[in-house]
Amino acid sequence: MSRLVAISNRTAVDPKARAGGLAVAVWESLKATGGLWFGWSGDIVEEGPRSNTLHAHYDEGVEFLLTDLTQEEHDGYYLNYANRVIWPVFHYRIDLAWFDRDAFTVYAAVNQRIARQVEPRLRNGDIVWVHDYHFLLMADGLRNAGWEGPIGFFLHIPFPAPEVFAALPEHHWIARAMCAYDVVGFQAERDRYNFIQYLIEECGGEDLGDGRVQAFDHTLTVKAYPIGIDAQGFVEAAHSDKADEAAQRIGQFLGQRDLVIGVDRMDYSKGLPQRFEAVGRLFDNFPDTRGKVSVTQITPPSRSKVEEYQELRVELDQLAGRINGDYGDLDWIPLRYLARSYTREELAGLFRIARVGLVTPLRDGMNLVCKEFVMAQDENDPGVLILSEFAGAAEQLQDALIVNPHDTDDVAEAIHAALTMSLDERQRRWRRLRDITVEQDVSWWREKFLADLAPGGLS
Ligand code: G6P
Repeated sequence: MSRLVAISNRTAVDPKARAGGLAVAVWESLKATGGLWFGWSGDIVEEGPRSNTLHAHYDEGVEFLLTDLTQEEHDGYYLNYANRVIWPVFHYRIDLAWFDRDAFTVYAAVNQRIARQVEPRLRNGDIVWVHDYHFLLMADGLRNAGWEGPIGFFLHIPFPAPEVFAALPEHHWIARAMCAYDVVGFQAERDRYNFIQYLIEECGGEDLGDGRVQAFDHTLTVKAYPIGIDAQGFVEAAHSDKADEAAQRIGQFLGQRDLVIGVDRMDYSKGLPQRFEAVGRLFDNFPDTRGKVSVTQITPPSRSKVEEYQELRVELDQLAGRINGDYGDLDWIPLRYLARSYTREELAGLFRIARVGLVTPLRDGMNLVCKEFVMAQDENDPGVLILSEFAGAAEQLQDALIVNPHDTDDVAEAIHAALTMSLDERQRRWRRLRDITVEQDVSWWREKFLADLAPGGLS
């Protein structure tokens, strides 16, 4: 019988990690089909026999095989190339990229090394599904190691416009390696278009139509498969005891005020300084909102070993302080900025009582917070979603209030419009958002991708 074999940098071996988009989606897929998950253990070890061992764990029918990284691998592959080169470039921040040949050499070597460890564990009939920007070169490695079965790749982050991608010194190498996959999946049509345009403009590729592309002597499937959430599961989370408790705790502080909520990893792609500025604009442009609204921004720190993330932290701390200093009053804190994480249930409870969900990234592959916000709402009195046009989710969630996150007046106006929107309009918009979130959920995403990668099914 064939198995699904997933490869991603982070896995969901730790139940607490089953909260982020990638981890939840891959976990749901592997649990549904039974299978094997390769990834990084999260540990850094001295070079030696241990750095070449795979650690095994089993949970709910899923087998995990995890590798440690040496310090050099961790710094070159994860910190520098994945997070300081690919991440900023793919999020249109060439200005923040630290181009470094040595880091690319280590990145390529880690892809090859893990491919060599995975290949002997594969069985005839297995379906290999590689995830995200850490492993763009994995198919190449697996083919070199002798694997002939199907290999698919799904990119969880955006794929940039051709001229932005071409800023990567290794763009040709990476594109060639991506064409070694049988299926390359993107979050949004815009990403798929960018990749195909790049192949046509820079590599003599050809769009054969029907999702088929030819480049570098390969013919592969290239399509958008927008990732979804466990929609029903999130409704249940929003009605759990833990959700009620969180809602009650914040309720004590809110009183009669309306809650406007944002939840984002602390990342410069999320547009947080611009969002904080927009909150200031709201109180300037619409003084009637002063004292009546509490904006709560939950932002767990992330990648704090990377300098650009440390700088963002300082900037946010200062901005939040300034906004509260400028607008706050004896009995009112306008912007509550919490640099810590909460559980999925707690967040679901907060979403449920929020009047407005603010999801305003400058760039985002998909963004699943907006889908979670939708599913947590109560049909009789739903809150309003404000969504950046630069999140992949904007292609599906057109009934949100779509904003340009760079335009702080636009965002301020949208918040005001959301706070004053009639019940009828809120319900009309919300029902359409709910329908698409339920229909195109995480199982739909998995089935759509696997139907192209393994047309005969998994068994
Ligand atoms: C994004 C990426 C994931 C990554 C996550 C957290 O969602 O698409 O691949 O795991 O951020 O980042 P970290 O660097 O902590 O794994």
